Formats: sequence, structure tokens, C-alpha cells
Amino acid sequence: MDIYYIDGEFVAEDKAVISAKDLAVLRGFGVFDFLITYNKRPFYLKEHVQRLENSAEKIGLTLNHTNEAICGIVEETVRRNTHHDESNIRIVYTGGVSSDGVTPEGNGKLMVMVTPKLKLPDWWYTEGAKIITLDTERFIPGAKSTNYLTAVWALQQAHRQEAIESIYVDRNNRMLEGTTTNFYFFKDNNLITTQSDILPGITRSVVLELVKGHFDVELRDIDKDEIGSMKEVFISASNKEIVPIIRINDTAVGDGKPGANTRKVMQLFKDYTRLYGQGKV
Ligand SMILES: Cc1ncc(COP(=O)(O)O)c(C=O)c1O
Repeated sequence: MDIYYIDGEFVAEDKAVISAKDLAVLRGFGVFDFLITYNKRPFYLKEHVQRLENSAEKIGLTLNHTNEAICGIVEETVRRNTHHDESNIRIVYTGGVSSDGVTPEGNGKLMVMVTPKLKLPDWWYTEGAKIITLDTERFIPGAKSTNYLTAVWALQQAHRQEAIESIYVDRNNRMLEGTTTNFYFFKDNNLITTQSDILPGITRSVVLELVKGHFDVELRDIDKDEIGSMKEVFISASNKEIVPIIRINDTAVGDGKPGANTRKVMQLFKDYTRLYGQGKV
């Protein structure tokens, strides 16, 4: 049985409840963040909590915990789930109960849910996967809010087309990001990834550090019409790490196999996370 932290208490997962009147339930008003452990250490915890704080600020939600306090609670919740090998960690801060059912009153609830790390299919990484594009945009894209209606809807569209992710394309034909991933492609040895109107992925920031000295990086808008010229594509996210992409809609990427540059990025990431929290990185 997993142990969660809910508003001041550590409880068994089946006892973890919040009010049905909470704005997170009624209006999708709340923020969350997601990270995993490597060597049982939460990966870039401070940065994820900082992003949670930024998300809250962007949507007008008051947090009654400091970054340090939230990090401490996350560490403690991980410690109480010793039966896990590695963990998925979800930090949620709800909007709280509101007298008129819509105006936040600064009484949000902090929840930390720690579950066993989910293993994704090996073939994603060895053979590469398909993604689709969808003409839709997220509201306040810099915030990770509990309103992920667009993501749930967009991912269903992807699954119907045997794809693992949908990439949002905005009204200006720009490819922004996936439902829970950031998007990258290679043009020659240049690694290109979206610069603005996205959720700044923590995995993305780690990737951009790791590739220094290996590839030149261009942070810029990506036009959907560039798809035909993309030689290698990958997506990144905390739970997925680096996934090579070999098809976008009906277009094959490069020769339809994970390319050498993408495999290099995957290796750099793997080497880094393997040592994470071991006193070496
Ligand atoms: C919209 C969106 N973009 C990108 C990402 C990737 O972020 P990270 O690498 O921090 O997991 C996420 C993560 O869930 C996301 O929801």
C-alpha cells in the first residue's frame, strides 16, 4: 500500500481524500508537478518545486508552503514508501474550498503522491515511436495546472492513430510541445527545440546542459512545414526520458529509425541519471 501526504498527514492511498468542494475538483483550479527518482533520490526536486511555485503564480493560486517545506515533505513521503524500487512523484496543490465556488480563498491543500515507477515499452526506445500533430493550444502554457483537459483529449487522438503523443500546433503553425513532453529535432548537427509558449521541461533543461560540447543548440519557433526536413526527432519528459520519434503523422522521419544523434542524447541522459544522487553528479 502506497503512502501519500495529504494536507498535513501521511495516509494510506485509499484514505487519501480532499473535499468535493475543492476548486481543483469543481473548476480544475490547482497546480501540479511530476518527477521521478533515480537511485531513490527525487530528480531535480528543487527545480520541480520551483516550477510548481511559478505555475501557481501564473494562475493566481497562493501557496502556503515554502519551496523548502515542500521539498522536505516530498523527501519524507519517498522515505515512507520504502517498498518501491524507484518512484513516480506527483505534487499537487489544489485551489482549496471557496465560499462562492469560484473565488480562491488561499486555503489550498498540498498533496504528495508517491507510486511505483511505471515502466514504458522497450520498443519506444529501441525502434522509435510515432507522434501526431494537433491544432490546439493550452491556456497559460507556462503553468502546469490541474486543468489538463487538452492533454487528456489530445492523447486519446494520438492513441487512435497508434501514436504515443500529440504535439500542439498553434494558430501560427508553430509546433510547441506535446501533452506532457517537449519536442526537438536535428538539422545537421544542430539540435533545435521550441523556445516560447511551452512548459519549460526540467528534462529539457538537463538535456540542454548535457549536449553542450556535443551539438549546437538553437532555441526558436518550429514551423509545422519543417516536418519534411527533420532528419531526427525526439521528445523528452520526466517519466519518458528521451524517446526517439520515427514518424510524425504520415511522414517518416529520416530513414525511419532512431538516428545516431538522438542515440547520443539518450546515452548522455542515461549516463547522467545512472549516477544521480551517488555523490558523482
Ligand atoms: C505540457 C508539458 N510540456 C512538457 C513537459 C515535460 O516536462 P518535464 O521534462 O519537466 O517532465 C510536461 C511534463 O509533464 C508537460 O506537461
